[in-house]
Amino acid sequence: MTVIGTGYLGITHAACMAALGYRVLGLDIDADKVRHLNAGHLPIHEEGLAELLRDGLDSGRLRFTTSVAEAADFGDVHFLCLGTPQRAGGSAADTSQLDAAVEALAPLLTRECLVVGKSTVPVGTAGRLADRLVELAPAGRAVDLAWNPEFLREGFAVKDTLSPDRLVLGVRTGRAERTLREIYRPLGEVPVVVTDFATAELVKSAANSFLATKISYINAMAEVCEAVGADVLALAEALSHDDRIGRRFLSPGIGFGGGCLPKDIRAFAARAEELGVGSALAFLGEVDAINGRRRARAVELARELAGGTLEGRTVAVLGAAFKPHSDDIRDSPALAVALAARAEGAVVQVYDPVALDNARKAYPELDYAGSAAEAAQGAHVTMVLTEWPEFAGLDPGELGEVVAARAVVDGRNALDPVAWRARGWRYRALGRP
Ligand code: UDX
Repeated sequence: MTVIGTGYLGITHAACMAALGYRVLGLDIDADKVRHLNAGHLPIHEEGLAELLRDGLDSGRLRFTTSVAEAADFGDVHFLCLGTPQRAGGSAADTSQLDAAVEALAPLLTRECLVVGKSTVPVGTAGRLADRLVELAPAGRAVDLAWNPEFLREGFAVKDTLSPDRLVLGVRTGRAERTLREIYRPLGEVPVVVTDFATAELVKSAANSFLATKISYINAMAEVCEAVGADVLALAEALSHDDRIGRRFLSPGIGFGGGCLPKDIRAFAARAEELGVGSALAFLGEVDAINGRRRARAVELARELAGGTLEGRTVAVLGAAFKPHSDDIRDSPALAVALAARAEGAVVQVYDPVALDNARKAYPELDYAGSAAEAAQGAHVTMVLTEWPEFAGLDPGELGEVVAARAVVDGRNALDPVAWRARGWRYRALGRP
């Protein structure tokens, strides 16, 4: 099989498929990346993936190329794992990488094969690509398409790929369904939902919208708690004992970010608008707005702690990744807050256990430190914005020795307020007194 596009999804899928025993060829247009991957260098931080990449390369079952012709010749099954970022200047998804991949691959498909889309796409994309494949491929109708969305979480990508909650197979033919069932058989007992293309595409958008809504729901409750001095953490705990509600994705704080949730809810709403059912998803605009307000609120708390202005103050930002156990900084709430503080005139010193290099490249205007203590040096306000375990374990007494003022904003409700206050810190969190 081939895996086209070697981003977070593609590298993980390729390495996992090789681990299941398949011969896998990864394809990417980025020659540098291909060279690094073939040398066993993983460009992302993802638990367990470096080992799988190395095992795959050592076994000879996995390699990477930039040659579309080689991929077309190699694959009986081609997985499309290209990025669908937010369109520049709009909220819809940009499917140009996916379109370009199909335009390049299809004319080279001379024998029966199955193309499997895994990217998150606007509903209707699969149907369009299926037509395009048959139109362009010399093998014509022998080229089949299926849509098999991926639900992996960064930080748990390998686990989510090898033990998924469910498999969604959007197919038009029994042949495609049989091939996909065969491919995933080594995963053992996994619930399988077989459906049409449109439903398969929608499942992914619906799942991510639900998760984003859950986070914004508890963050909306945090806003209300702030108005009356109530405690959103206790509220969330009380809600969670109702197992119809549950505890997961009900952690209040500075909200969601990353390469998926923010752009996926916007793309979903934009697509609904195009389909004439915009009002059905109008609430996603609110979900997005609540999320943005939480970032602004964190900056407000820092400003309050700094005495009404951030101008000329030093702010320590602990965390740059959009969530712990990842080095991904795409739409990171932590960096959004850091940049907003900087825009108000603060000197911002950022530390993150793994995302520092990515952050430094993307935002050279921020200052960077090699440890939490170094970032906190001389800080008037310290902000914990990504809940890395090492931040929860910080000693407020020791950190208090290096800061200019003992003032902390706990943007992820990751610290123990009692312990920090006991050491003389002014402690502020979102949604808590
Ligand atoms: C998400 C989906 O979970 C995954 O199924 C999909 O395939 C891709 O998008 P991911 O982007 O890796 O995965 O991150 P996720 O774990 O969902 O977290 C998203 C953001 O929400 C992070 O910024 C996280 O900090 C935040 N979050 C999560 C909260 O603010 N509160 C919560 O309770 C949970």
